[in-house]
Amino acid sequence: MGGMKNKGKKLQNLVDQEKEGLELTTVWNFGTREEGFGSHVFHGNCIPQVSRQCILRYSKKGDVIIDSMSGSGTTLDISKELGRKCLAFDLSPIRPDIQKADSAQLPIANNRASLIFIHLPYWNMVRYSQQEEDLSNMSLDNFYAKLHAIFIEMKRVLKSEGYICVLIGDKIKDGKSIPLTFETYNIMKNYFTYRDYAVKITKHSKSVVNKGRVVLAELAWNNLLKPSHDIVLVFQKS
Ligand SMILES: C[S@@+](CC[C@H](N)C(=O)[O-])C[C@H]1O[C@@H](n2cnc3c(N)ncnc32)[C@H](O)[C@@H]1O
Repeated sequence: MGGMKNKGKKLQNLVDQEKEGLELTTVWNFGTREEGFGSHVFHGNCIPQVSRQCILRYSKKGDVIIDSMSGSGTTLDISKELGRKCLAFDLSPIRPDIQKADSAQLPIANNRASLIFIHLPYWNMVRYSQQEEDLSNMSLDNFYAKLHAIFIEMKRVLKSEGYICVLIGDKIKDGKSIPLTFETYNIMKNYFTYRDYAVKITKHSKSVVNKGRVVLAELAWNNLLKPSHDIVLVFQKS
């Protein structure tokens, strides 16, 4: 009887949350960037709607959230609006409310957060700094090795049953597609239980031909598809 009541409550919650904008499918196509969260001029920022979806679905009001690759502070700002407490770090902080730290060594106690949201550098697509711990400033093998160290640290600071959402995309380098998304999934599954993923559309690209001859020539020459989506990987600490 109690179980039935709980299921009914969960269903009603989801119906209410969908009305408030919660995505219920795996394809996220947000259109333009919501203003007022993080910075639209920070190179390598994420659209605030992604943080919003992850926070709404995987945390409650008052929960502690960690974003240890905060960049311009998009997740920090959305967390505040949604009544969560966000602990924000970055190796190269650009705001006083973001502390300097390496994601593989966080100044946080064990089991502190209900949710971790991180938006990884897509390896060296954007060079964020010249520090040797910077994920965008190392060989691809070292990037993957560093991800292992980072996810071990994330597991330490995440509460049992807490969620970790990772935003990541693929890149093309030297005529080859580098599957950063699949590799990140493979690394994460060593430390967490897989729960879900969503595909976030990055561009409403009507035609790749309109993007210019350089892009087109690269695709034609290498027989590749142009990446036009990112992936949100969702795992849980068991
Ligand atoms: C894709 S950006 C995050 C952008 C952010 N979501 C926003 O909307 O502004 C990745 C960030 O990771 C940071 N970073 C790179 N390596 C790091 C490391 N080892 N520890 C912490 N931060 C790191 C970079 O400085 C950069 O700000």
